[in-house]
Amino acid sequence: MSLMRQFQSTNHIIKRLYKSGNALGNQIHTQNRLFKEKEDDFIQLEIKEELLKFPNVWLRDNCQCNQCYHPTAHSRILDWNKFNLDPKPVEVVKDENSVQVTWDDGHKSSYNLNWLQFRSFTPRHQKTYTETIYKPVKKVWHGSDFEKVCSKHDYNQILESDEALYNWLQDLSTYGIALIENTPDSETALDGIVNRVAFPRKTHYGFKFIVQHVTNTSNVAYLSSNLQMHTDLPYYEYCPGTNMLHCLVQTLGDGGENMLADCHYTAKYMAQHHPEQFKLLTETEVEWRDVGVEHGKEFFKLHRSPVICLDNHGEIVRINFSIPQRGSQFPGPIENVKPWYEAHSLFYELSHKFVAHFKTKAGNILVFDNIRVLHGRNQYEDKGDNVRKLIGAYVDWDEIYSKLRCLKVKLELEEGVQ
Ligand code: OGA
Ligand code: ZN
Ligand code: ZN
Repeated sequence: MSLMRQFQSTNHIIKRLYKSGNALGNQIHTQNRLFKEKEDDFIQLEIKEELLKFPNVWLRDNCQCNQCYHPTAHSRILDWNKFNLDPKPVEVVKDENSVQVTWDDGHKSSYNLNWLQFRSFTPRHQKTYTETIYKPVKKVWHGSDFEKVCSKHDYNQILESDEALYNWLQDLSTYGIALIENTPDSETALDGIVNRVAFPRKTHYGFKFIVQHVTNTSNVAYLSSNLQMHTDLPYYEYCPGTNMLHCLVQTLGDGGENMLADCHYTAKYMAQHHPEQFKLLTETEVEWRDVGVEHGKEFFKLHRSPVICLDNHGEIVRINFSIPQRGSQFPGPIENVKPWYEAHSLFYELSHKFVAHFKTKAGNILVFDNIRVLHGRNQYEDKGDNVRKLIGAYVDWDEIYSKLRCLKVKLELEEGVQ
């Protein structure tokens, strides 16, 4: 939009705000509310024996008619330059499944009642929407419950059945971990699973990566020594969401098993029992780093972010943890250094206290939430023909949540979703 047009349209809206006599004046008195609530600012509807309130401005904004909403682009197309912030209904007619509203400018809107109920403003309905459509609720676990929380899924069923795909993704998002079994012994088998969800996330290690012992390695994971618990690629601002490790060959003797710890459990424990250290880990930015050459291309990645990242609601959105890939630059003040190391060490110790051990078998794909679950691996030794080999790929949470919602619509698990 040109500057001139931007000015004109802003002016237009301000003029209308004054004209409606509803906004700027009342804003002073109502403090936290932009608009003072008036009875005639809402339409009240009884839906399934519940009286629900819908603001006029919201209803008008979300009119579903072809002039206001494009049915195949699933997008709002109403012209904001002409939008009235204070529309008034002149007629409201409700039938069994829908409600028709005629507005004071003559425009007619129609809304499906399930669609409306799903978007209702009561805390209960908002919670239902958040948990069923936005993102499934996460359930935290202690390592001793690993057997119960790590559900098992069949490779072919995921490829063939939408229900199986849905169940796997739902478990993965709830617990941050799920195991796929009976995967064919092929380097391309993982592609089938990744493509069933969406597409792989490319990093400087490629679309897929091979985890095998390599002496002059570009990454310490490609050594047979003990791999301390970590999240992969914390140095990416947009960090790959899930990690899928297909075990083609496992060490037959001792070693090569994985350690897995739910950091949401660890972080919640810390918040409760060690609040100072928890605060330090949520507030102190760390510089995560990866430098080297892979597939003939140089990289020098840096990203600054705390170990425990919280959102505006205080919910954990991302965990970063990696001893090898933590840089030596400490962006915080010098007096925070020692306390931060102590908090970091406590997080590490607690994660080990809450850890689960699990050794994958050939044909398993271990799938986990890379920004929630710490993973590591015990030292192993390749002997003769028994050369441990994994193929890994990443899939982002955006794609997984998107697939889950599409499946909810397709499998008709919820009404009035879109
Ligand atoms: C990795 C990794 C685990 C394993 O490659 O980042 O964590 O079991 N590998 O080798
Ligand atoms: Zn309309
Ligand atoms: Zn890893």
